[in-house]
Amino acid sequence: MSYMIVMTAQKLDGKSVSAEMRAEIKQQTEALIARGMRPGLGVILVGEDPASRSYVSAKEKACAEAGILSREVLLPADATKAQILAEVQNMNQADDIHGILVQLPLPDSSIEEEVLNNILPEKDVDGFHPVNVGRMMLGLPTFLPCTPHGILHLLKRSGFSTAGTHVVVVGRSNIVGRPLANLLSQKHELGNATVTVCHTGTPDIGSFTRQADIVIAAVGRPNVITADMVREGAVVVDVGVNRVEDDTRPRGYRLVGDCEYGAMLDKVAAITPVPGGVGPMTITMLLFNTLESARRHLSAGV
Ligand code: GUN
Repeated sequence: MSYMIVMTAQKLDGKSVSAEMRAEIKQQTEALIARGMRPGLGVILVGEDPASRSYVSAKEKACAEAGILSREVLLPADATKAQILAEVQNMNQADDIHGILVQLPLPDSSIEEEVLNNILPEKDVDGFHPVNVGRMMLGLPTFLPCTPHGILHLLKRSGFSTAGTHVVVVGRSNIVGRPLANLLSQKHELGNATVTVCHTGTPDIGSFTRQADIVIAAVGRPNVITADMVREGAVVVDVGVNRVEDDTRPRGYRLVGDCEYGAMLDKVAAITPVPGGVGPMTITMLLFNTLESARRHLSAGV
């Protein structure tokens, strides 16, 4: 008699891992508040992009649930660079704000670099300031960027060690692909992997992803990583959050990742759903960094 083994993938459940971590963060926040320090996050949102609006709302709700103060500044889409920089300065100087987040993309992406460079590195809880990017590269203490850091914790808490594995990262953005590849290659508990980075200049991406123990898709286009591009038993992390039209949904769209989720379920060992995978982890690590920043302010006596 022969049996066919049909694998059903484990769900890499960012929602439940986030709930676990947020409970820890809330407890530590309460302990800090008892010492007279309430962590505070300042959020600057420019324009009315619906996806950005919804991310910012989710971040504020998460702050409130964790006991973290959040203050939002909403600027119109045609706000000038000077106006945005003035708000950054206000938050740099505000004693009750320990973390500053400027939601990206800005309507005028050409000013993003200058805006990010004006956030004080010690309040840069996104980890996007060049000083913090440099410190991350060197393995020095810093604020790690939230999505890459969240992915590493999601894998660890789901029982998957990256040490000694071959990870293929598809995408080389400053926010996800590049920092993730760097962190994964570092000699620490959440890294120690052999890393390949694929991007728009890579011919035949599938020939690389098929060699991976762990595939991380951070492309930003629906279903570009198909089931035939991953090997049986691989672990798949899908960073994509893409809106596709869907008239059956009340909002007229649904969210899908970069991977062919349904077709991969019977093939891979584990996969993140979209939504409910990486997204909640990003917000969790933002809370983590804001708490850490407040702690540092307290111990520095600022
Ligand atoms: N836009 C997409 N992801 C992020 C993020 O992690 N931080 C900010 N500030 N903007 C984003």
